[in-house]
Amino acid sequence: MRVIVTKSYDEMSRVAADELAACVRDNPACVLGLATGTTPIGLYADLVSDFEAGRLSFAGVTSFNLDEYVGLEGTHPQSYRYFMNKNLFDHVDIDIAHTHVPSGLGDDDGKVSSEYELAIRQAGGVDLQLLGIGPNGHIGFNEPTDHFPVATHRVELTESTRVANSRLFDSLDEVPRYARTMGIGTIMRARKIVLVASGENKAQILRDAIEGPVTPMVPASILQFHPNVVVVADDKAGALLSR
Ligand code: GLP
Repeated sequence: MRVIVTKSYDEMSRVAADELAACVRDNPACVLGLATGTTPIGLYADLVSDFEAGRLSFAGVTSFNLDEYVGLEGTHPQSYRYFMNKNLFDHVDIDIAHTHVPSGLGDDDGKVSSEYELAIRQAGGVDLQLLGIGPNGHIGFNEPTDHFPVATHRVELTESTRVANSRLFDSLDEVPRYARTMGIGTIMRARKIVLVASGENKAQILRDAIEGPVTPMVPASILQFHPNVVVVADDKAGALLSR
């Protein structure tokens, strides 16, 4: 695991954006795994700037997002499909038909989830998976529990995640109770992983995840077993790391 602690959020964003840009330049037909949350907004803005400056093209890229709230249509302003369109897809030359976000709809969860897994496999697997980290150590929406869920699945969100994410909704009541997320196995199959973390509220959990014991109670700790991970933290999130 390579750990980079930057001097600022802007530098964290640029360093992480460069990782994604290098992946796209090396293989213009690469498969990117993408993440939502406040943390990656800056790096998506940097990728848009690279595109606008003619330094980067997403024309051949396929993408798979980590997760989506169950019950929200892609037109809902808090859906992750909406987030991705607003922060990246609407501003670059990616073919929108080649962008995938797990559906928040559909009753037959097993079918929806297994179709998502199949689509990732048929695309050749994820070359680079971008991750944020939840305040409780979740990646995607894989919440702390007694095991590492393997495949894409429906998950009940913990109260702490609903409270943390309620800042983006009008009230806690409006935060969905369930989400659909890639599993830990799905994430670990990516050939490379870039995890971004920003802010002092991530400092302790980031330390637990990358320097503590590997446990499903800190889902991100599994990344210690992945052979090709880059962690990019800003100064505040990296403040408690010992190396
Ligand atoms: C959500 C997403 C995660 C993300 C996390 C942290 O719960 N499902 O993928 O990493 O938020 O978000 P933020 O970057 O806003 O702290």
